Amino acid sequence: MNPAAVSQQITDAQTTEEQFLRRIFIRSQMQEFVQDPLLMAKADGVWYEDVHGKRYLDALSGIYVVSVGHNNRRVIDAVKEQLDTLAFSPPMHGSNPQAVRLANRLAELAPGDLSAVKLASGGSEATEAAIKMARQYHRLQGNGTKYKIISRYHSWHGSTMGSLSASGLASRRSVNEPLAPGFIHVFPPTCYRCPFGKEYPGCELTCATLIEDVIRLEGADTVAAVMVEPIGHTGGIIDPPEEYLPMLRELCDRQNVLLIFDEIINGAGRTGHMFAAETFGVVPDMVCLGKGISGGYAPLAALICRQHIADTFWGDPAENPGFVEGHTFEGSPLACAAGLATIDEIIERDLCGNARRMGERLRAGLGGLKRHGIIGDIRGKGLFLGIELVRDPATKEQFDPPIGQAIGRRALQNGMLTRFDPHWLAVAPPLTIDAEQIDEIIRLLDQSIGEVLAELPAC
Ligand SMILES: Cc1ncc(COP(=O)(O)O)c(C=O)c1O
Repeated sequence: MNPAAVSQQITDAQTTEEQFLRRIFIRSQMQEFVQDPLLMAKADGVWYEDVHGKRYLDALSGIYVVSVGHNNRRVIDAVKEQLDTLAFSPPMHGSNPQAVRLANRLAELAPGDLSAVKLASGGSEATEAAIKMARQYHRLQGNGTKYKIISRYHSWHGSTMGSLSASGLASRRSVNEPLAPGFIHVFPPTCYRCPFGKEYPGCELTCATLIEDVIRLEGADTVAAVMVEPIGHTGGIIDPPEEYLPMLRELCDRQNVLLIFDEIINGAGRTGHMFAAETFGVVPDMVCLGKGISGGYAPLAALICRQHIADTFWGDPAENPGFVEGHTFEGSPLACAAGLATIDEIIERDLCGNARRMGERLRAGLGGLKRHGIIGDIRGKGLFLGIELVRDPATKEQFDPPIGQAIGRRALQNGMLTRFDPHWLAVAPPLTIDAEQIDEIIRLLDQSIGEVLAELPAC
């Protein structure tokens, strides 16, 4: 690394490169970051460029965010225009036209009677709001004992205490314990490695039916909601069998339990429809959107609820306080302008259709990489696909030590951003991607896998 290059890009201060970089916390180990810092300087389309001028194919949309591509002029112009008009409005006294427009746009687009919107600045705020809305809804309905939230192991719903308590990732939970009470976890539909040792479809979806058993055992009068990502991200792109989400819908209805879809990653066109709820043909009681809904041009998230929930929060202030939840930057005019322009871009350019078409090409390309003999499974929908890495696809034996990070890091060295875990790797490029760029993703993955395998010690 050339220290001078970085410091010239980011400061004139007289500190050393390392001192400089040690002052910012990032999401992984600082020591690694300081040794080999990745600092993006600019971006265009599906390409990033770092401070040294190296280009990276963004096969991850930053982190599932840059839905409409980098340097998208429509969204940039909309935010600039909004900056010149109104940058902030008082959130406690009212709202602003852009926020009201965005709420209406989302309500029109959402399936079923998902029709009222709480805006937020990030995914954790939206999932946290969903948990609170579920509890407050039941309380206003006279069911104040319904407070427990059922979610899944391996899941990630956010960093705030409530959303973290709903999350099922042991590594991120344990360092923050004790977490909030009232959160229960069940196994996700990981068919490739069924936690019940069964096989689909003979299993009759134990992973779904067991949730109703858990609700009964906990006491249906204590359970407020079930929260899931339609396609689970952490845990390795957990794409459920088609009956799974409809079964959750039915069992939640039977038990007067709300169904929440966390579509922070799944939504905004990523699975080939504006909402993953549409991809799976299930209308949940609440949907959380984030990441791709503003394309990364401003921090924006949203919670959309069904009409019967919205109605519950409507009434005489003396008896009904409304939805008790709020953040300073909710409904920021800048973020809402970015959201509206991003949605226009997704719809007018048919980026959902492009996600389906390019997703098929990407899936076929990943299928071709099976010839390396280490891809056990390809999962996901649209432009949200993952591969599970195994030493032996016949036995599903895992690599020990794992190989995922080595491949992901090699891809980065080779100029491509992916999401990698010890045993899986995910690809989710901007929805604007074209066929040639999809082929380039496959070429770079092919090269990276080949190089890592060639360096493995012979067994
Ligand atoms: C499924 C899911 N839900 C919620 C969140 C939290 O969103 P944020 O990081 O914007 O707070 C994330 C973030 O990665 C996520 O992937």
